[in-house]
Amino acid sequence: MIEVFDDAESLAVAAANYVASAVIGDVNARGRCTIALSGGSTPQRTYELLARKPLCGTVSWPHVHVFWGDERCVGVDDGRSNERMARRALLDHVPIDERNVHPIRCPQSSRLARDPRQPDTSSAALSYDALLRRELAESNGQLDLVLLGIGDDGHTAALFPHSPALDETTRWTAQVQKPGEDIDRITMTLPLLNRARRVVFIVSGASKASTLRVIINDGGGVDRLPAALVSASNVVWLIDKDAASML
Ligand code: 6PG
Repeated sequence: MIEVFDDAESLAVAAANYVASAVIGDVNARGRCTIALSGGSTPQRTYELLARKPLCGTVSWPHVHVFWGDERCVGVDDGRSNERMARRALLDHVPIDERNVHPIRCPQSSRLARDPRQPDTSSAALSYDALLRRELAESNGQLDLVLLGIGDDGHTAALFPHSPALDETTRWTAQVQKPGEDIDRITMTLPLLNRARRVVFIVSGASKASTLRVIINDGGGVDRLPAALVSASNVVWLIDKDAASML
């Protein structure tokens, strides 16, 4: 399903309402909602709206379990941290049970200055994989809701074009590097993303328009853009007019 909105703000309002109603429905149906948050800048306004009236009071936050689709291996106070963004925009402002908040913990050193005493990123990825399997055991490994964005290059979460992580068929997380970046990242992989009950892409801005056309109109094209490989049973695209301008 694709829904187009006039501008970034109306997209954020719609996305926040969509998330709130999905969470309410899941909690009513199964007593909890497991949600994987996206990083990047696009979802920040959506998170802020979820943390404010009227939506904030409609969600039973103690029944919400939060994960991250990906994380950069930086300190939690680093401006690049997805956990930091979500806590400042949303989690610090709602009565969520901190025991239900599951950030990705990975070494904060860049690959260029790795501290040998620190566990390496791959073991951090394995730890998050184990956490996910433990926390999702009662729902057969299914996240209720996954929020994703796309990069100009067609990446989603931290699944970048031509990454070996795209070929992962069993593990639910992977250690990756974005080309040209000197830090590691950890990402959820397609086996986990594609078993989610719902995936919602939130895409805004003209810079995404040509990539979105390849993803939606051409199935990801010859380059198999990673966002096009997300094939969960229910994938929703919430986009603004600028991003939809080439569809
Ligand atoms: C991240 C996200 C990433 C993001 C896209 C879009 O860690 O940055 O997981 O996949 O969704 O890069 O980012 P913007 O919303 O900033 O355009």
